[in-house]
Amino acid sequence: MHLNSDTHPLSNAFLNLCYQSDASRIRRRLFKLNKEVDSDKKTQTLAQLSEQAQAAFEKVELRRNARPKIHYPENLPVSLMRDDIARAIAGNQVVIIAGETGSGKTTQLPKICLEVGLGCRGMIAHTQPRRLAARSVASRIAEELQSPLGEVVGFKVRFADALKSDSYIKLMTDGILLAELTSDRNLDQYDTIIIDEAHERSLNIDFILGYLKQILKKRPDLKVIITSATIDVERFSKHFNNAPIIEVSGRTFPVETRYRPLVQDSDADLDQIEGIFAAVDELVSEGLGDILIFMNGEREIRDTAEQLSRRNYRDTEILPLYARLSYGEQSKVFNSHRGRRIVLATNVAETSLTVPGIRYVIDPGTARISRYSYRTKVQRLPIEPISQASANQRQGRCGRVGPGICIRLYDEADFNNRPAFTDPEILRTNLASVILQMLAIGLGDIAGFPFIEPPDPRHIRDGFLLLEELQAVESKHNKLVLTPLGRNLAQIPVDPRLARMVVESQQLGCLNEVLVIAAGLSIQDPRERPMEKKQASDEAHRRFADPSSDFVSWINLWQHLKEQQKELSASQFRKKCRDEYLAYLRVREWQDLYAQLKQAVHDLKWRLNDTPASYDTLHRALLSGLLSHVGFKDNNNEYLGARNRKFFVFPGSPLAKKGPKWIMAAELTETSRLFARCCAKIEPEWLEPLAAHLIKKAM
Ligand code: CDP
Ligand code: MG
Repeated sequence: MHLNSDTHPLSNAFLNLCYQSDASRIRRRLFKLNKEVDSDKKTQTLAQLSEQAQAAFEKVELRRNARPKIHYPENLPVSLMRDDIARAIAGNQVVIIAGETGSGKTTQLPKICLEVGLGCRGMIAHTQPRRLAARSVASRIAEELQSPLGEVVGFKVRFADALKSDSYIKLMTDGILLAELTSDRNLDQYDTIIIDEAHERSLNIDFILGYLKQILKKRPDLKVIITSATIDVERFSKHFNNAPIIEVSGRTFPVETRYRPLVQDSDADLDQIEGIFAAVDELVSEGLGDILIFMNGEREIRDTAEQLSRRNYRDTEILPLYARLSYGEQSKVFNSHRGRRIVLATNVAETSLTVPGIRYVIDPGTARISRYSYRTKVQRLPIEPISQASANQRQGRCGRVGPGICIRLYDEADFNNRPAFTDPEILRTNLASVILQMLAIGLGDIAGFPFIEPPDPRHIRDGFLLLEELQAVESKHNKLVLTPLGRNLAQIPVDPRLARMVVESQQLGCLNEVLVIAAGLSIQDPRERPMEKKQASDEAHRRFADPSSDFVSWINLWQHLKEQQKELSASQFRKKCRDEYLAYLRVREWQDLYAQLKQAVHDLKWRLNDTPASYDTLHRALLSGLLSHVGFKDNNNEYLGARNRKFFVFPGSPLAKKGPKWIMAAELTETSRLFARCCAKIEPEWLEPLAAHLIKKAM
């Protein structure tokens, strides 16, 4: 569009060329001005707005002229294809770019956008699934553009940012982009949105992809670029009206895969450490070359790093890489070095970050994956076998500089039995918590939301029922909204039932105990019961049992572990756990999740109780999340529960034999019969104040 002398600064054509967020503001003022009756005032405001439009137009010109000069690294697949990519972006609102990790998608695409003139009418948003990646990608692009971090290129993540109002490229986590939606409904501050790593299909990514589809019509000028590893790319294209897909071929070297399954013993954790030692020894004997080891989390990384460094490999540096490390420590993996380097990284190194110069990979084959069970209606974050696609991504990390070797700590049959892809999070998550989050962000009604893969309507219905039970939602003017309580639930990162207990416990003064229990119920029970050691393990666990409440056993076990940990060294503690039939890895998971929950309630400015809570207080709090899991003893040992369901207490519990009249259960699981797991005695009079809203409905 060409501007000529007739183009009025307040015409649509002119405003379309102005700085987007200013133009939107001016449009809103113009719209309001229609109602203005005072004609003098109207003329005056129009003059003001015209001036502002001129300024907003010039701002774009200024930004266009002040863009840095762009150079591309010669040999990256994305830089080689930059003309094709630029043409596709110019001709389409949405473009999908697929390519192997390391081909230059993350670092080069924003530069291509900048070169074709994007980033001037608004910033280029560039989202990453992880904080660590957002920061480090920002500094890498800034470096390539020879501009200090926070000037041309900036970033914003939770707890940290470096950005100017006139920056061009803004790296951020996808969570931050979602949070910004609440105040910038049309994403007016951006003229381009790059959604990186879309193949991860986290809830955040699915929310964003659905939301973008909704606003594309309202923002015809907005450019959207979706990048993905070469996994299920067609799906993205379909979602966006058959948007073009550009495949960037990666240059890779052959990788030899060696299967070195762990020797099965009762302690998977010890085996894993030994498996890693053996694999490192094997690779060290292959010759010089950096090794990348994938691990499940921070604590595991620290333990393994410590034990590896005691083995004194010659001329070897050991570097951990996880989100909570200081930025300086994280960036060490990008510094050049001499000798050998062993990098211990979380999943971030699978596709998000390319650790340079890796010759060897050790893949234990697991990752922390969030799961919701439709059957038990409980959300967990277990460590699980990774998919074939993930394993192949990991393997590919060592074929970039030359031929590589990947050692898998499992066997080939195991690999072949794994699912091809990891299910997207939306299909694994408790829909109650999805609805909760959607309402908290303001994404509207889940049933009408254009998900890339819509969830099952049955699960949606269950989700609504649960949220009503928990009093997290209410209907206002025919619209479903969060209650203040629901708003709190959305901020506590566990299953909504457990989050409800946490909220109640804050009011009753038993937050500390309930956090321990909520964390415990979110992981797999660390108490192990090996087939051939049933009696011995039962005896070991019975020491923590409480005759009236399985929840109290969690507290007793927690105290016991804390005392042990105070007295023992890390490896003694690990051994002690094994002797007591406790899975050390899960104990650690429990402690990690507890710390995470503590942080969440700290953010809400809640205080933990210093004095231990009474039985009544604690169980009233727990009951608030389990109202539909209450039972009344019918006859024998059978309980009558909500919706006339009959259930039994699971045999492992001390409550199974001579059960109390009234109980509640954390979990109701259908196997041969409906069984209640993790139960406690309750008093019927506790129910009334908590369940008034349900009783009223039933009558
Ligand atoms: O996003 P994609 O996996 O396609 O590639 P990238 O992250 O843009 O990386 C392109 C190249 O830049 C790789 O060879 C990386 O090793 C390199 N790179 C680097 O050396 N240092 C960084 N901080 C980031 C990337
Ligand atoms: Mg990338």
